[in-house]
Amino acid sequence: MPRTKLNPPMKVERKLSPSLGFKNAVLAQAPCGAKPASFLATKSSGERIFIKELLNEGNIKKNGKKLAEFQLIADSLKPVFKIKSVGYTYVNNYIISSDWNMPTKPYETKEHTTPSGRIYTIVKDGPKTLRDLRFPKNPNTGKPLPHAIIQTDKELDILKVLLFRQFIGASDSVPVNILVTGEGDILSIDEMAYAGDKMDQKRADDPDNFIHWLWRKPPSKEMRQQGKEWLQEHSRELMRWANGIDLSNVEIRVNGQPTDIYGTIESIQKRIDSFIFFLKDSKLNF
Ligand SMILES: Nc1ncnc2c1ncn2[C@@H]1O[C@H](COP(=O)(O)OP(=O)(O)O)[C@@H](O)[C@H]1O
Ligand SMILES: [Mg+2]
Repeated sequence: MPRTKLNPPMKVERKLSPSLGFKNAVLAQAPCGAKPASFLATKSSGERIFIKELLNEGNIKKNGKKLAEFQLIADSLKPVFKIKSVGYTYVNNYIISSDWNMPTKPYETKEHTTPSGRIYTIVKDGPKTLRDLRFPKNPNTGKPLPHAIIQTDKELDILKVLLFRQFIGASDSVPVNILVTGEGDILSIDEMAYAGDKMDQKRADDPDNFIHWLWRKPPSKEMRQQGKEWLQEHSRELMRWANGIDLSNVEIRVNGQPTDIYGTIESIQKRIDSFIFFLKDSKLNF
């Protein structure tokens, strides 16, 4: 179906149910079609939270608890990889965590027009993600240009987050799914989908393209070059880190029962070993 421009633009309400009792809830990002949305909300106590819908009219028949399973597993595995957990919990068809943006001011909103002419209200100057760290940008749209690279001193943390996602088979590694907290720390977010087998295949098809197996889409030439330089610079620390990951006491369970539908500990260990082999085999100096 071709997109039709609505004239005048149509205002679309994407709101959290008022029965949840939040004082203020704004969309965390422009929602994608009918996909359930994510919000930043203020509780009556004043506490700010991130809250993600799992169900909406489009998928009412799905099981919210099941949709949250891999996200909760992924977050609980982070300490084993010595990276910071988000602290996601599942409550009644929502995924909830603290608002890591740590804003001190009230949320400001902004109108966002989609190509079809619909208007959403989203949070203005919302949480920073890796996308915001990409420079240069198109001054008119604010979007990173194709040759943009990431400006940061957190390369090692970013590499660990990307590698963690690859090791556990969390598929949606795109710049907006890596959050920069209000304190400048790097958080891995939005690990909703498990696709370990697919990701293994992609890696097997293109074994030397290290930076490509970490991202969902092929990164630009500039980002690939940057990734290589980061790897070179941090190879020793990454080697130490990867060797120090101890999965011997880790189990993947759902409702208390062991499961392998999100891959196995052995498959995670295999990916770690294969990364260590890749590091040793690369022309990097150790
Ligand atoms: N804990 C959080 N605190 C603050 N902002 C967040 C948090 N989690 C996500 N966000 C922001 O909300 C956006 C959407 O969250 P995400 O989990 O990626 O959901 P979606 O499935 O809608 O993509 C993120 O890109 C980020 O900007
Ligand atoms: Mg996301």
